[in-house]
Amino acid sequence: MNIVLTEVWGVCPATMRKTEKSGGITILDFGSQYTQLIARRIRELEVYSEILPWNASPDVILGGKPKGLILSGGPRSTTGTDAPRLDRSLMEGEIPILGICYGMQLIAHTLGGEVKKGRLGEYGRTRVVFENGGGEKILSGVPASIDVWMSHWDEVSRLPEGASAFGASESGALAAYSIDGGRITALQFHPEVDTTEYGREMLSNFLFGICGCEPNWKLGDWVKRSLESIASEVSETDRVICGISGGVDSTVAAVLVSKVAGDRLDCIFVDHGFMRKGEPERVVEAYKRLNLRIRHVDASDRFLAAVKSITNPEEKRKTIGELFVRVFEEEALKCGGAKWLLQGTIYPDVIESGSKGGDVIKSHHNVGGLPDDMEIELLEPIRELFKDEVRRIGPLLGIPEEMLKRHPFPGPGLAVRCLGNLERERLDILREADAIFIDEIKSAGLYDSIWQAFCVLLPVRSVGVAGDVRTYGETVVLRAVASRDGMTAESVRLPWDLVDRTAKRICQEVPQVGRVTMDVTGKPPATIEWE
Ligand code: XMP
Repeated sequence: MNIVLTEVWGVCPATMRKTEKSGGITILDFGSQYTQLIARRIRELEVYSEILPWNASPDVILGGKPKGLILSGGPRSTTGTDAPRLDRSLMEGEIPILGICYGMQLIAHTLGGEVKKGRLGEYGRTRVVFENGGGEKILSGVPASIDVWMSHWDEVSRLPEGASAFGASESGALAAYSIDGGRITALQFHPEVDTTEYGREMLSNFLFGICGCEPNWKLGDWVKRSLESIASEVSETDRVICGISGGVDSTVAAVLVSKVAGDRLDCIFVDHGFMRKGEPERVVEAYKRLNLRIRHVDASDRFLAAVKSITNPEEKRKTIGELFVRVFEEEALKCGGAKWLLQGTIYPDVIESGSKGGDVIKSHHNVGGLPDDMEIELLEPIRELFKDEVRRIGPLLGIPEEMLKRHPFPGPGLAVRCLGNLERERLDILREADAIFIDEIKSAGLYDSIWQAFCVLLPVRSVGVAGDVRTYGETVVLRAVASRDGMTAESVRLPWDLVDRTAKRICQEVPQVGRVTMDVTGKPPATIEWE
């Protein structure tokens, strides 16, 4: 398949941006762990925001006609020779700019100020005092002294010409300054982080008071515009194929496109045999209820044969991913002459696929890497949405809550939760144990407040005793995590009677299991899945 990809660093070039996005905010990413958070905070204020890499050209940056720019924080020092920079012409133009942390230091460095290593650096909650003699718009409704979140080593030691300071931290370090009557506003602290008091107000003041944005990023309108945009791309004769898993993203993408393409959309559900208990049946039923044509392909024998003797996690993921693509392609060809391949790519995937030089922790399995010998174009209607936005538009499209609230499930499914020999019998044990755990969590009313809960089957047996008889059973691990986006996670403190009841039920109802343990590790240092 020859997929026509139009992305530059994971984002549309300026010429391809849709006009409705004009009037939003562009965030230039200097590598901060909070860049996505800034984008979310702005969208929560109902203003469209997008992220571009720091080295995007001024033409690309201004091509989207943003009302303002935000320069994110970042891990580097502006004093380094190879530090990320920003074209000075952007600062000298008319567009409002908010610099945060590294962004604040970069503005000073670029315009002739001085940045140097602070004596101690500032990390965590810090008291800041403002002086609002100049009537800084960013401070409207903000008290003269607040707690903020700091995370920096360098500090601005001399302001550029024409800049005026309006805030300092308790250690005396410069915390805020502005240039050109507040058109450029620079904050050493992070207004996007919850710990910063009045952070939301400061961002709101920047958007509405300084940039003149309108609060017009409404998801209902987004659905309408998105349908118009899909209709303008997918002609009345084009066929579309789509790989679905029953997860939120692919389901929302499929329902959205089906409103335009109707029965010219074929949803292909490749069942690799690593689904949870009853899941294939549930997915097929749900799709039928949504009036989507679904092609259910039971390829479990092929997948099991391919991974039977593989225990290395990366090799397992790659083998499953490659076979998945092959099976999907075979089925796609049977559907005949599709022009479009629909994918449920969402904004964090777009941003992450653009970052370069990172360590490969896990090869994620998506339909993305189709071979090069089939002419097909990629359709990604929800690529600008965050997960919570995808969940919120689901009900607008008539998708049942139960599908929207499903815990995330990895592409390779139970294969990365069944360690050791991947045999049907062991997968069945895991399926049963997992269903019991989820049943208990649902009965306790905790399912919706947990990011992910599941069982893992270990390649470890242990000795036990049942009815005076020695047993030598399998080991199941319970894992429940809280997370905002899957990037970091904390173990959930489940009520002990729930854990106790789950362990008893698993050992009773799944007699092959002799021991139930619990994984209480966060991410980092662990990952959420075991492989
Ligand atoms: P890890 O295990 O890397 O997982 O901490 C982070 C989140 O991603 C999910 N995950 C995947 N999702 N394809 C997916 O679509 C995959 O191959 C995959 N591997 C892990 C995982 O369940 C968690 O929510």
